[in-house]
Amino acid sequence: MADQIFWYISRSAGLVSWLAAAGSILVGTLIPSRILGRRPTIPWLTDLHRMLGALASVFLLIHLAALWFDHFVQLRFDDLLIPWVADIPGLSRTSIALGVLAAWMMAAVELTSLIRDRIPPDWWRTIHLSAYASLVLGTAHAFLAGSDITNPIVAALGTSAITAVLLALVVRIRRRQRAKRRRDEPPPTTRPEPPIVTTSPVIGDHGGLLNPRPSETTPGPSPRPPASGHHPPPTRG
Ligand code: HEM
Repeated sequence: MADQIFWYISRSAGLVSWLAAAGSILVGTLIPSRILGRRPTIPWLTDLHRMLGALASVFLLIHLAALWFDHFVQLRFDDLLIPWVADIPGLSRTSIALGVLAAWMMAAVELTSLIRDRIPPDWWRTIHLSAYASLVLGTAHAFLAGSDITNPIVAALGTSAITAVLLALVVRIRRRQRAKRRRDEPPPTTRPEPPIVTTSPVIGDHGGLLNPRPSETTPGPSPRPPASGHHPPPTRG
């Protein structure tokens, strides 16, 4: 057990980092979609999103440090930094390279968030969106390199986290499309207001009606002829 302690630490830290990253991305995806209503508030959700992102980074460092100290895998510095360099018995180079790429993307997302005020917003946004790619790569890495992914609890946790992120993404995209459609629709045509008609008669100083009924001022349509029997006889020639 003692000689494997770093292996255990590395595995558990890798799992915590992966799930925290998925949780951070899930919350970050849900914030603009307002699907959670007014409670919890947006600042609270933003803090949660940041905290989970920081947690993912800290546990990623522990994952890598434990691999560095582990005597079995014997990783060097360049194995941790350059994709397709690490050669670990029993694991494909690609399975590790996916983790290295995911780690670089996570580092970029985390570092640019710390200096967000000092970089153009477009840059920050583009780099921030790469968090989705890092989650995809990290998930592929966990499934291909991990020893515990065959454990049903680990597999269920990972699959649920990724499914939740995908669903949140679909909800967000659909809400954005609906809002855009509503913005692009022409404004409804406004009908002229009908005149206000008072029904009770208003009597003036000299006894006349001040608001005569429409039928008393403007001649209405000529009365319809009676339905039967009272037509004048048709005249000849
Ligand atoms: C330089 C980057 C990385 C390297 C060199 C690396 C290396 C490794 C190795 C060698 C394993 C196999 C451990 C075992 O035997 O189970 C592993 C597993 C794992 N890694 Fe990474 N990794 C890196 C980045 C990441 C990142 C960015 C994540 C996700 C945020 C991650 C999450 C995991 C997970 C979840 C496992 C499976 C643990 C288990 O099954 O118990 N790794 N990693």
